[in-house]
Amino acid sequence: MKNLVVLSGAGVSAESGIATFRDAGGLWEGHDVMEVASPEGYATHPALVLDFYNKRRAQLLEVKPNEAHFCIAGLERSYRVQVITQNVDDLHERAGSTNVIHLHGELKKARSSKNENEIQECPGDINLGDLSKDGSQLRPHIVWFGEEVPAMDQAIQIVSKADVLLIVGTSMQVYPAAGLKDFAPSTTPIYFVDPAPSMESYGNLTVIKEKAGKGIPMVVDLLSFENKNNSSIL
Ligand code: APR
Repeated sequence: MKNLVVLSGAGVSAESGIATFRDAGGLWEGHDVMEVASPEGYATHPALVLDFYNKRRAQLLEVKPNEAHFCIAGLERSYRVQVITQNVDDLHERAGSTNVIHLHGELKKARSSKNENEIQECPGDINLGDLSKDGSQLRPHIVWFGEEVPAMDQAIQIVSKADVLLIVGTSMQVYPAAGLKDFAPSTTPIYFVDPAPSMESYGNLTVIKEKAGKGIPMVVDLLSFENKNNSSIL
C-alpha cells in the first residue's frame, strides 16, 4: 500500500461548527489569539485561559465529524494513511482515522505546568488548584506560540516518505507545521483543499479551491481515477 499523508488545519473542522483561527480577523472565539494561546497570556490570566480551553473541550461534546473527516478515514481502505493535524479536537479519531498525530496538542489531555512530558487524560474541566502528579498546576496539553512542537521530528520523517500528500484547511501561516510540505519527496503529488487557498497550483501541487466537505471527496475521486489508470498501464 502507498503512504498517504494528510496535513490538516482548522478548516477541516469548520463544517463541524468549530471556528477557525484566522478567518475571524485575528480573534479566536472573541479572544486575541496571543491572550489564550501563549505562555505569557497564561501567566497573566491563568483562570481565563483555563476557562477558554474548558469551553473548547465542552464544545467537543456538541460537534460531530463531517464528510471530510469521514472521507479521510475511509482512505485507510486503500492507503497506509497518517494524519498529521494542527487541530486540538478529536474529530479525525471520531471519524475513524487510526493514525493521528496532533502537532499542537489535544484538548482532551492535560499536562504539568513544569514538564511537557507529564501528560494525562482530561475528559472535563481544568480549574486553578488542579494539580499534576508532580504537584504543579495542570494546564491544557496545547502547544502555544513560542513553545516547542514535540512531534515535529516524527512528522518530518513521515512526510519524507509520503507517496501522496493531502493538505486541507490550513492558512499555512504557522511554522514549523507550515514547512512540513517541503519535506515531501519532489515527485510526490500534493493536493491542497481550501476555499481561500494561500498557494497556487504549480508542478505537482494541485489546489482545489473548495470547502473540505466538497474538496476532499473530489481528491478521493482523483486518486481512484489515477490509481485505475496506473494499474491499467502496468
Ligand atoms: N474547508 C476547508 N478549509 C476551510 C474551510 C472549510 N470549510 N473554512 C475555512 N477554511 C480554511 C481557511 O481558508 C484557512 O485557510 O481553513 C484555513 C484556516 O486557517 P487558520 O485559521 O489559520 O488555521 P490553521 O492553519 O489550522 O492554524 C494553524 O495556528 O493559532 C494556531 O495553533 C493554532 O493550529 C493552529 C495554527
